[in-house]
Amino acid sequence: MKTIVILGSTGSIGTNTLDIVDRFPQDFRVIGLTAGSNDDKLEEQIRRVRPAFVALANEAAADRLRQRCADLSVHILSGNDGVAQVAQTPEAELVVSAIVGGAGLVPTLAAIRAGKQIALANKEPMVMAGALMQAEATKHHVRIFPVDSEHSAIFQSLEGHRREDVKRLILTASGGPLWDFTREQLQDVSPERALQHPNWKMGSKITIDSATLMNKGLEVVEARWLFDIPDAQIEVLVHRESIIHSLVEYRDRSVIAQLGLPDMRTPISYALRYPERMPLELPSLDLTEIGKLTFFKPDHDRFPCLRLAYDALEVGGTMPATMNAANEVAVEAFLQNGIRFLDIPDIIRSTMESHAPRQIDGLDDALEADRWAREKAESLVHALTQ
Ligand SMILES: NC(=O)c1ccc[n+]([C@@H]2O[C@H](COP(=O)([O-])OP(=O)(O)OC[C@H]3O[C@@H](n4cnc5c(N)ncnc54)[C@H](OP(=O)(O)O)[C@@H]3O)[C@@H](O)[C@H]2O)c1
Repeated sequence: MKTIVILGSTGSIGTNTLDIVDRFPQDFRVIGLTAGSNDDKLEEQIRRVRPAFVALANEAAADRLRQRCADLSVHILSGNDGVAQVAQTPEAELVVSAIVGGAGLVPTLAAIRAGKQIALANKEPMVMAGALMQAEATKHHVRIFPVDSEHSAIFQSLEGHRREDVKRLILTASGGPLWDFTREQLQDVSPERALQHPNWKMGSKITIDSATLMNKGLEVVEARWLFDIPDAQIEVLVHRESIIHSLVEYRDRSVIAQLGLPDMRTPISYALRYPERMPLELPSLDLTEIGKLTFFKPDHDRFPCLRLAYDALEVGGTMPATMNAANEVAVEAFLQNGIRFLDIPDIIRSTMESHAPRQIDGLDDALEADRWAREKAESLVHALTQ
């Protein structure tokens, strides 16, 4: 029986994780759950899995939850500190990191420093402070298991092979919901349309990131740190069907890939029970039914965000954190109908161009870059919406 905490339990990854827990109650005990402000859903989850500790980042939502759960013995914490505290629950063996955005950095790092194994879905902390997170994981003997389907595929394709034999990592990208759109169509696309992903059902931020290809950019940075490989050896291949989840090429030109129907429960379960594979009752991949798999090069003209991520990696230091924060601000502004789709890369680029990068020596450097970039990007959004 593994004891787990789920950070971001009310989200898409969080609910998929709880679905695995429901299917294998003898394998897992959930002792902590956290969310941002959704006290309705968190209450329903608390009554279902009976965790000892929960936290809501939003104080008012936490107060409501305390009243609603007065009949239960659950300990309800609040604020960002409360979330970070639940991440370090002494009884927890593994923490599922599934908060969206940079808000996950502090609690995920707290979990690493408390020696918890990590199932990492929340890619933004790795983008903001990947070297720091890996250094802390090494120091505290923590393994970080990837949940992102691409990184899980790479992780699986690397198993049993020598790192020095790797020639390149190839991350596949669905291309997102707007892959076939012209630049003119992209200019006028609505948030509702951009949220219609063809293959994956995910939270709204990652779905817009998928539409701009920034999601793939964030994943390139994540892969650089997770697998300790230079960015020059990480490539992206657009694969519309999302069946091949990623590939590793070795120096003898063998290519090893991991395939499956797009369902996050497969990589989540692998991260939860590694090295065991769980008997999931899900539909099997039938390649004769799929018939044809297609591949394209990414189009950097229509989708410039991927290139911005490589640029940020090349500069290094605080630049990836800056890019990440500007992206979060721009995506939120797009979702609120404040700016247009093609303003997103422009805001990220302008923020990066104004940034004087510094080395990241500790958490504060990453958080300060995040704060600065949010302020800068918000001023750019403001200028566009006046
Ligand atoms: N969805 C996928 O299939 C998928 C695949 C690969 C990687 N990922 C990555 O996994 C992460 C989560 O994605 P998602 O799609 O599950 O997102 P999501 O559905 O939007 O869920 C986000 C979760 O984070 C919580 N949260 C939001 N803001 C918070 C804050 N300031 N403090 C604490 N908690 C906060 C939310 O709580 P509320 O419900 O209360 O707002 C919710 O539980 C992202 O980094 C994403 O890139 C997702």
